[in-house]
Amino acid sequence: MSMVSFGKDIAPLFNQFRASMMWRLDLTDYEQVKANADMVLTQIQGGMPPPPYPPLTTAQVAMFQAWINQGFPK
Ligand code: HEM
Repeated sequence: MSMVSFGKDIAPLFNQFRASMMWRLDLTDYEQVKANADMVLTQIQGGMPPPPYPPLTTAQVAMFQAWINQGFPK
């Protein structure tokens, strides 16, 4: 997969869920998502966001995995 950017790819995807998860972490904050990346990956693989929200697509989950593998590019 081509280089994934937190600012251009991840934050815009997560922004719609930001308010719902502020109790735990700011999904649009680079440092917080980086620090919790393994947990975020596990959650989105397991169906987060919860119903009635549609789960992230396979491609979106793969993009997040690639962002981790690429060393968390900003
Ligand atoms: C892609 C978007 C989302 C991501 C990456 C995400 C991420 C996470 C993470 C990492 C946790 C685990 C927190 C912990 O164990 O300390 C979690 C739990 C939780 N999230 Fe989200 N979240 C998303 C969207 C949402 C939305 C839209 C809602 C509600 C409308 C929501 C509600 C919850 C709730 C209630 C929990 C705790 C119960 C559970 O683990 O199922 N999340 N989420």
